[in-house]
Amino acid sequence: MITKPKGTYDVLNFDARNYNYIEEVIHTFARLYNYDYIRTPIFESKELFHRGVGETTDIVTKETYDFQDKKGRDLTLRPEGTAGIARSYIENKMYGNNDLTKLYYFGTMYRYERPQAGRNREFTQFGMEALGSNDPSIDAEMISLPIRIFESLGIKNLKVKINSLGDTESRNNYSKALKNYLEPHINELCSDCKERFKKNPLRILDCKVDGENDIIKNAPRVLDFLNKESKERFAKVLNYLDTMDIDYEIDPNVVRGLDYYDHTVFEIVADIKELGTGNVLAGGGRYNSLVKNLGGPDTPAIGFACGIERVLFTINTLELKCADEKSLDVFVLYVNDEEKEHATYLAQELRLNGFSTDVDYLGKNLKAQFKEADKYNSKYLIILNSEDLKDGMLELKDNLTKDKKKIKEINLIDELDGNM
Ligand code: HAM
Repeated sequence: MITKPKGTYDVLNFDARNYNYIEEVIHTFARLYNYDYIRTPIFESKELFHRGVGETTDIVTKETYDFQDKKGRDLTLRPEGTAGIARSYIENKMYGNNDLTKLYYFGTMYRYERPQAGRNREFTQFGMEALGSNDPSIDAEMISLPIRIFESLGIKNLKVKINSLGDTESRNNYSKALKNYLEPHINELCSDCKERFKKNPLRILDCKVDGENDIIKNAPRVLDFLNKESKERFAKVLNYLDTMDIDYEIDPNVVRGLDYYDHTVFEIVADIKELGTGNVLAGGGRYNSLVKNLGGPDTPAIGFACGIERVLFTINTLELKCADEKSLDVFVLYVNDEEKEHATYLAQELRLNGFSTDVDYLGKNLKAQFKEADKYNSKYLIILNSEDLKDGMLELKDNLTKDKKKIKEINLIDELDGNM
């Protein structure tokens, strides 16, 4: 038997319907908040992620699926969506009219991680990005969006953890202080952290090995190194969050595992023990230098992404009801070949008139067809009979009340319209 690769999964049955439901909710919110849908490639040039996400991040050093195509081009399955969006923003000159560009996306992402609850090698993110504004009010919109989406799915007890990494000057000052603090402890840290110390000490803070170590826990906090402008900016973001009635907790440990961030960074955490460290439903932040680093114009931007599987897991754990049970409007039943032919015709007519409809394709007897109709929660049954068909009539049964009546076939659509 061929089985699925480690770290991948099939989404089936009720989960698949909930999955669709979540996507519909996201489309609705995107429309409400005026975000446009965008699709970018699943693979991009390897260089995009090295320059975008950062050479020293775990994602780039350990987790990307890199490959060469038949012409020897270096490509990477995207580990996240933001770098591709920034690339597309530049390549399609979306900055041309100096407007704010608000985009949202869904897509499979690939990270070679150790699979566990809420952590897969292939997973799906939805994300939202706003490019072109540095105004703190859009930071608050971006934090409120996933919260309002999760709430509308029935997920409560969410925590917004927020922090600020400040501007480049603040981060450089912090980086120096962190280096000074870590230097005497460097031999107590893992081999990866020793490398990170040389190249990008900030990445030591989200080390999966040393993260819980007291040395890291007692490290200086970035908030203490923000310059005046960065501090004022952060205060404004918090003020807007208050205005929008979004509860938050300032958490200096939120530094995010990607290099492109500055100023606001945030994570939205669900209170689900079974998810362990995978309980971060969404994460994001401001990335004011990314577009420029990738060769575009200086463009401030902010966004977030959310793992749909983690949302699905949360919905299942909390036993929330999202998608409806599967149901059909009509099931058409027949016995002989002449009736079967008519059933095929009628099913198409009904579908084209907007009624979800099915018929038996397995040659089942009438009793088994009734069972099949029940299995699909069919609201109405049409039971065909050659004698009735000659007179242009058919039998319509309300499958809930079990009421039956004979009606003229030409009145069928009106009859169903009137009842649904
Ligand atoms: P991230 O924190 O790496 O950020 O991922 C965002 C979300 O994707 C996580 O909070 C989690 O829900 C989900 N996720 C990440 N890795 C996995 C995995 N292995 N299995 C299942 N779910 C996972 C980003 O990707 C940034 N691009 C977010 C962003 C957008 N920042 C600005 N704009």
